[in-house]
Amino acid sequence: MKTILSEKYRPQFHFSPKEKWMNDPNGMVYFEGEYHLFYQYHPYSTVWGPMHWGHAVSRDLIQWEHLPLALYPDEHGAIFSGSAVVDWKNSTGFFDDEPGLVAVYTSHDIYPGTDRARQRQCLAFSSDKGRTWTKYSGNPVLTDESKTDYRDPKVFWHMDTQRWIMILATGQSATIYKSENLIDWQFASEFAEGSHAGFWECPDLFPLPSGEGKEKWVMLVSLGDTGDYTEGSRTQYFTGDFDGETFVNDREKDEVLWLDHGRDNYAGVSFSDLPERRIYMGWMSNWRYANQVPTGEWRGAMTFPRELSLSAGADGLHLIQKPVPEIQVLRKAGETCHDLFVSAEKHAVIPLKGSLMELNLEAEFEGDAGLELMILHSEADRTIIYYDPQSEILSADRTHSGESDFSASFPAVQEAPLKMKNRSIRLQLLLDSSSIELFGNDGECAITGLIFPQPEESVLRLASRGGRVHVKSLELHELSSIWKR
Ligand code: FRU
Repeated sequence: MKTILSEKYRPQFHFSPKEKWMNDPNGMVYFEGEYHLFYQYHPYSTVWGPMHWGHAVSRDLIQWEHLPLALYPDEHGAIFSGSAVVDWKNSTGFFDDEPGLVAVYTSHDIYPGTDRARQRQCLAFSSDKGRTWTKYSGNPVLTDESKTDYRDPKVFWHMDTQRWIMILATGQSATIYKSENLIDWQFASEFAEGSHAGFWECPDLFPLPSGEGKEKWVMLVSLGDTGDYTEGSRTQYFTGDFDGETFVNDREKDEVLWLDHGRDNYAGVSFSDLPERRIYMGWMSNWRYANQVPTGEWRGAMTFPRELSLSAGADGLHLIQKPVPEIQVLRKAGETCHDLFVSAEKHAVIPLKGSLMELNLEAEFEGDAGLELMILHSEADRTIIYYDPQSEILSADRTHSGESDFSASFPAVQEAPLKMKNRSIRLQLLLDSSSIELFGNDGECAITGLIFPQPEESVLRLASRGGRVHVKSLELHELSSIWKR
């Protein structure tokens, strides 16, 4: 019998729908011990189509339980991306005694008598922990007839002003609105700095500790694929201040910070109502080829959940992202080695028992020689990770990782800047059956990329390009599949 476990390319420890098409994560909220993940879903096809909200819950961010679809298209159109919050004080009046969940999403149809997209913000609520939903009878709650791109509301409660805030993608900008009750919204400000390499989508805005008891705000903005840029769709971020009305960017107007330097991390946002931690998940694909990736009965997967924090560098604050520590429960037996010296001639070859693993290593560079970390799925099928100490660039080359000819945009060498510290770097790598997530220096940079290898007897091969490189420590864990446990 064919099981999820044996399906070719099926992610074994990343969230994916059982079948059919999935894109953006939506409505991520933590409530009564459950992490809710809703997502853009087309239940009738493995390509994008009229959008619904799929639904899954988890208690540990690892094991996900698939639940029935949450939201179906209605008289206002398809259900595009959005968020969900806990209405703790019943500010909407939707609930009786207990707090419930409110979803704020975009309804997408066309302006009557035209072929122009119409996008309006709507509400739905649930009093049974997200299991069933009622659409608000007064929908839509926020409209702007002058706009076509007007979507992806991310809502949160702003402590200082005691109001709800919505950040909305509005063409080439993000617009901030405020509300007392999630129903009546007032314009607060508009922000349009950074990159305009694509139309803006799926914004997020949240505070993070910035040291010494202070906090700073982070804005995420995904940029759609216009076809003009090699990278396709990707996500930028800003750090700054937010007073409940206006976001003030820390950096120069045109400076751009990328959240991820791989091709496959898009439309990611963070969980609402999660105390203490800020956890992010993105859609592991790219609009450039999302509809063509060669998976079977399903299309789409999420990144592994990542914990976000800020770190101060010489040029200001940067976002740090690390796989959540819950990953520990997936670790099977591990191997640790110290002080390996590799060169162009002298390789270290480690058999990989399955195609699921987590690798942590620290390497020290004595000269110009760089470190090459090759995942050989078979002799011809390889994913090559390389760190060049001269340019201080980390790269992940998937040009020879199995199936890659389904789109001319897919084969790629993905590069991220990564500075050495005392001539050393640290790498963390998560390998699933059809993805790699690579983190440099404890989450200072990330490269997330899909791969479609045909593993035979996979091995990991460490070598250098040139003289010797000192691998100070290497820790390798086989990971277990979430489908088995
Ligand atoms: C981002 C996006 C959103 C939109 C949704 C439609 O990937 O284009 O802007 O709401 O996908 O599925």
